[in-house]
Amino acid sequence: MIEHLYIHIPFCPNICPYCAFYKETAGRDRVELFIEALLLEAQFHASELLPKTIFFGGGTPSALSFSQMERLLDGLHHTLNLSAIEEWTIEMNPATVSSDKAKLLYEAGVNRISMGVQSWDDAVLKTLGRMHSSQKGEESFYLLREAGFRNISIDLIFGIPYQSLNSWRNTLEKTVLLAPEHLSAYGLTYEEGTDFFRQRSRGVMKENNDLEAEQFELADAILESSGYEHYEISNYAKNHHESKHNLAYWLGSDYLGLGPSAFSTVRGERWRNIAETGLYSSSTIEGKTARDFEEKLSLSLLASERAAFGLRTNQGLDFEKAHPWHQAMVEMEQHGLLYRTQDRWLLTKKGFLLADTVGEIFF
Ligand SMILES: C[S@@+](CC[C@H](N)C(=O)[O-])C[C@H]1O[C@@H](n2cnc3c(N)ncnc32)[C@H](O)[C@@H]1O
Ligand code: SF4
Repeated sequence: MIEHLYIHIPFCPNICPYCAFYKETAGRDRVELFIEALLLEAQFHASELLPKTIFFGGGTPSALSFSQMERLLDGLHHTLNLSAIEEWTIEMNPATVSSDKAKLLYEAGVNRISMGVQSWDDAVLKTLGRMHSSQKGEESFYLLREAGFRNISIDLIFGIPYQSLNSWRNTLEKTVLLAPEHLSAYGLTYEEGTDFFRQRSRGVMKENNDLEAEQFELADAILESSGYEHYEISNYAKNHHESKHNLAYWLGSDYLGLGPSAFSTVRGERWRNIAETGLYSSSTIEGKTARDFEEKLSLSLLASERAAFGLRTNQGLDFEKAHPWHQAMVEMEQHGLLYRTQDRWLLTKKGFLLADTVGEIFF
């Protein structure tokens, strides 16, 4: 049985200039058709699914209206066996959090929130083109607590143009005061096809790698001294609130992805649904495949992926699994990027900063 289910909800209230996730701002009819298609796709896979984790990602799942969300949740409850659920996450944009929706989600069994706060500095939020203010972010956080959520994660971004070390420190300190159970701190990436990418190409925006490295180190220092465990390059958890769903990806478990642009990896095969909501919906409703990419994964590719992702976590990579790349790892150790314990390899702090380069040795 497949134990991890991802559901991609591709709608957003507005489009952020740095974001490359598949998403759109959409009208009501398109959303209704999408929900119908999604429930059919869930039905199609129901007999092979017994999810321990569900992740509603996007896009902005919380952009669905109350009635659309209600239809989706009711439909999933009727279609799938949800008796084994341990963790059910939904991504929310603070601008689309309401008390009614929060209660609906909580009562339906959703037990983890991942909220895209990004920063508590209004000037930085403006640079990012976000719809919410820091005040709305804080109100949304408390509203989710009032609805009963005891596992909230906050997304933050550093390395943003015009974001000083001081602004980042204030954002980290304010986050620590709110005490979410989990947080993700991402370094800004300039993704092809985004407005930020074009601005960087024109020289309007610039990266500052030294400042970004300082910001990464500051996050590590402030969060670790406040009781958060740095358990993956971009992720911190308090009192063992690691994301079970994301750990399943990183440690190489099978997962099924529903919705446009969603990837699945099941029994050595990987496929992706088409990244176009209208086509995804019409194909699925007509009983045709919505996949636009499929591949069979060789055992060696699966081993490489597990090694690369595993090494990014605080579980590291045990010597046995690392055996094929031993020599390259020794060289990385000599460069101060890796260190070893009795039985495993782990990234050093410097290695965290250059993790993508280290990961290349596995492929
Ligand atoms: C799907 S969004 C989260 C939910 C919601 N759509 C929102 O933006 O509030 C996933 C997260 O990815 C991060 N993210 C997106 N684009 C990024 C980029 N180019 N660089 C770094 N982080 C990015 C943001 O922190 C964002 O909260
Ligand atoms: S960052 Fe979130 S809200 Fe902004 S466009 Fe991407 S998915 Fe949508």
